[in-house]
Amino acid sequence: MKVTVVGAGNVGATCANVLAHKDFLQEVILLDIKEGVSEGKALDVWESAAINHFSTRMTGVTNDYARTAGSEVVVITSGLPRKPGMSRDDLISTNASIVKSVTENVIKHSPDAIIVIVSNPLDVMTYCAYLTAKVDSSRVFGMAGILDTARYKAFLASEIGCSPKDIQALLMGGHGDTMVPLPRYTTVGGIPVTELVSEEKINAIIERTKKGGGEIVNLLGTSAWYAPGAAAAQMVEAICKNEKRIYPCCAWLTGQYGLEKIYLGVPVVLGKKGIEKIIELKLNDKEEALLKASAGHVKEVMSVLDNMKAVAS
Ligand code: LAC
Repeated sequence: MKVTVVGAGNVGATCANVLAHKDFLQEVILLDIKEGVSEGKALDVWESAAINHFSTRMTGVTNDYARTAGSEVVVITSGLPRKPGMSRDDLISTNASIVKSVTENVIKHSPDAIIVIVSNPLDVMTYCAYLTAKVDSSRVFGMAGILDTARYKAFLASEIGCSPKDIQALLMGGHGDTMVPLPRYTTVGGIPVTELVSEEKINAIIERTKKGGGEIVNLLGTSAWYAPGAAAAQMVEAICKNEKRIYPCCAWLTGQYGLEKIYLGVPVVLGKKGIEKIIELKLNDKEEALLKASAGHVKEVMSVLDNMKAVAS
């Protein structure tokens, strides 16, 4: 099985590295536009194979999409990351044209591929790839919920003093400050989180989660990569192994949750066909209002893309 990761920056290279370590793929192609970067990083990962005991062959290529032909899954991480003071939405004009041209090249060489978008602003870049790829929406979706949920779990685990492995949680909505972590769907070793953590602390953790990406940007001067790269790799694994994992992903809605014609984070079943099912929960009034507000924000940014004629056409 072959997977391509487009963009050999921090997130793309981390995703490719995590995939190689998982050791279930024959080949990972890492592609970048900068000469030598993907070749160098791919070679470095491949040289770690004997130490870390994996067989996945990693190859780096400069813009040579022919080498990506026949990829089962393509992860698109291309585009600029945030700098301090920027919101993800500030990246739209630069990243939309990049994601459009990458998607065109990807689909030309791997017409049957499943496309996982990581570029920001995530929900709208996923929409951009969907408009460009012109394939079923079950095959074009975005990585955000796994990352945002992982941050939420990390903060809860620090508060409780438990392993993040024992936390089950769900988070919905757009990948931005309007995301909707859902304490009602959060358990720790089977125990409702509300029995272990005070409402005040949970609310503080929710607020920190919403700004989790920005917290890293402020510390590093650029956006995160270890958790985003690992999250994208986890989606690839669920698809390639046909695991039917239930993850929050950025999916095209066609009436679910009373929303349509929008990419938004919702729980889905991930398997070899991509998004095999969107799970609809019975949200309470407060949760539904938060989800609608998040959808409203995503729609606003989607309309910016729609008005960028060259990109949306
Ligand atoms: C983040 C970026 C990748 O949330 O969106 O860290």
